[in-house]
Amino acid sequence: MALVRLRELLLRAKEGRYAVGAFSIANMEMIIGAIKAAEELKSPAILQIAEVRLNHSPLHLIGPLMIEAAKNAKVPVAVHFDHGITLEKIEEALKIGFTSVMIDGSKNNIEGNISITQQVVKEANKYGASVEAEIGRVGGSEDNTENIAVAYTDEKEAKKFYEETKVDALAVAIGNAHGVYVGEPKLNFQVLDNVNRAIDVPLVLHGGSGISAEDFKKTITLGIRKINVATATFNSVEENVRRLYELNKKVNYFELHDTEIEGAYNNVKNHIEIFGSNDKM
Ligand code: 13P
Repeated sequence: MALVRLRELLLRAKEGRYAVGAFSIANMEMIIGAIKAAEELKSPAILQIAEVRLNHSPLHLIGPLMIEAAKNAKVPVAVHFDHGITLEKIEEALKIGFTSVMIDGSKNNIEGNISITQQVVKEANKYGASVEAEIGRVGGSEDNTENIAVAYTDEKEAKKFYEETKVDALAVAIGNAHGVYVGEPKLNFQVLDNVNRAIDVPLVLHGGSGISAEDFKKTITLGIRKINVATATFNSVEENVRRLYELNKKVNYFELHDTEIEGAYNNVKNHIEIFGSNDKM
């Protein structure tokens, strides 16, 4: 099908009342597995990588792989730069052809967050790319190096932020956190409902790993249109590989390769079914 803009995928998700999975990948095998699951389920998908992960997967190598995989997919796929921190890397992603970028200005005060987001929107517009930003603060950290405390999104602040930036997607903080949850995740649906009533923009749920199917479905009824899943896919790949070695100590490299693909495929497939984006291309 095609490489598409995030904006288009999310507007269609809004009409159809489902969410599109944004699957973090780190190598070619994970890209192949994620696309295979999306194609099999006839689902749109988002491939993404976060700036903090580029030390493992350099942008000039992984970026073109993601773009080519999207262009050749039988389903619509957006390629997204997750948790952009520096304007340099965001610009590099746009030049490579990412159809969407996130600027994470959530550590700044509201004025600082608005100002940096406006700069990114201006830049992304030159490429026709979409922009996601974050308001409030999602817990944990993208690469588990920090334990950031959750700061719930305030709907008045979110409205002001949206009116001044006109981003295409807005990530909310409702008790969700990156990485492995300590105990059961406790999402505050009231906070989400307030933001959803205050502004008409597709909302994004970060920290998808560990959230129950029931909670995912509830957030989708309250305006969540993009759901980020990273740790669960990395773990699924690792566990699949570990099982392979437990069964057979002597593993041929290409069995390892196929097993990684399968690990990513299994987790992406499972989430697409929960998010209800299957048969929506
Ligand atoms: P998890 O690692 O908790 O799935 O979070 C993913 C995420 O939100 C990426 O931005």
